[in-house]
Amino acid sequence: MSKTRKIRIVCGVGARPNFVKIAPILRSLKRYSRLATRLVHTGQHYDRVMSEAFFEDLGIAPPDVFLGVGSGSHGLQTGKIMEKFEEFLLADPPELVLVVGDVNSTLACALAAVKLHIPVAHVEAGLRSYNREMPEEINRVLTDQISDFLFTTSRGAGENLLREGVDEKKIFFVGNTMIDSLRKSLPRAERRSRFLRELELAPGSYALLTLHRPEVVDSKERLEKALKALEGAAELLPVVYPVHPRTRKRFSELGLEKRFRGLSNLILSPPLGYLDFLHLMIRSRMVLTDSGGIQEETTVLGVPCLTLREETERPVTVEKGTNIVVGLDRGKIRRETEKILGGKGKKGKIPELWDGKAASRIARILSERLSKNSK
Ligand code: UD1
Repeated sequence: MSKTRKIRIVCGVGARPNFVKIAPILRSLKRYSRLATRLVHTGQHYDRVMSEAFFEDLGIAPPDVFLGVGSGSHGLQTGKIMEKFEEFLLADPPELVLVVGDVNSTLACALAAVKLHIPVAHVEAGLRSYNREMPEEINRVLTDQISDFLFTTSRGAGENLLREGVDEKKIFFVGNTMIDSLRKSLPRAERRSRFLRELELAPGSYALLTLHRPEVVDSKERLEKALKALEGAAELLPVVYPVHPRTRKRFSELGLEKRFRGLSNLILSPPLGYLDFLHLMIRSRMVLTDSGGIQEETTVLGVPCLTLREETERPVTVEKGTNIVVGLDRGKIRRETEKILGGKGKKGKIPELWDGKAASRIARILSERLSKNSK
């Protein structure tokens, strides 16, 4: 390689939480003149509010390439991404492919790269729910197995990787890039009060709900159970629910739309952009969620969080943070909500290295290692 040749890194992203995690990494990589970064968007998420709106809110340039893969079954979506991403890589193979999180785009991009012998970096490695019913768990386990750089958000995640036989030298505990974005965006999110005013809700007077995981929303029985469980909380305070497109589709397919709409105290809204959602979260009394990232964000914001799942791949948010895993147990949700409203909610601390500097650690490590390899 000639002296002036840049080290090329391709970042592959596709879904909403990916955009939040990649934004600070792109900014940090740009600070190294030796590195040339390109961003490929697979098109897993494509609606304006699920995609472009996030790029705008996060202040990142539009992707260099859009593969336009769209929705489909797991096999179809993963296969299509692999096919198109491989074509892109073959045209101009980079020195590294970087992927974030645990969505289908994460695994598909990593797998396409590794089969072309291109090294892979996985950001947010080592998280485990040990529930293989979750598509994300399969994506995590497989992506970690084929990655060369495994960047973790907690010491526990590193221990999981060691137990699975990953070489210690590949594991780097760097912190949480989703929290980098959160910290950077807080001042702007603070000012996004329009939506709350429109809803005529006072700060601290409502709960914020997210619900979109297939294991909850894809079965009528589970979705009805969720509805009953949520009634327990909605009897105590208004619940604001920005509905994910997957869930909206399920509501109408399963004939549950009317029942959800009929639940008094449940305020449905379309999906929100990053800053509007963050504003709602900052001002909420508590959060009810089945999302992974939101368990982390509430921990940093000190907002009490009830996780509507049976387990979490992010135990640090329970050990250190404000998170309690409650499943879909109506009684438990009501009791914990009462505690929170009575001022007895979990207080929590901020996990180690969730300081807004994770992306700069990642960029420094990659720049050092890749420069060494290319000498
Ligand atoms: C995906 C991730 C999940 C992540 C979530 C964040 C996987 C396996 N799952 O789930 O881990 O928490 O993103 O939002 O990768 N749809 C639209 N517009 C869009 C995108 C999707 O209407 O822009 C609808 C389509 O009907 C689609 C469905 O939502 O079939 C599901 O989308 P998909 O990307 O397959 O999974 P998510 O549920 O969004």
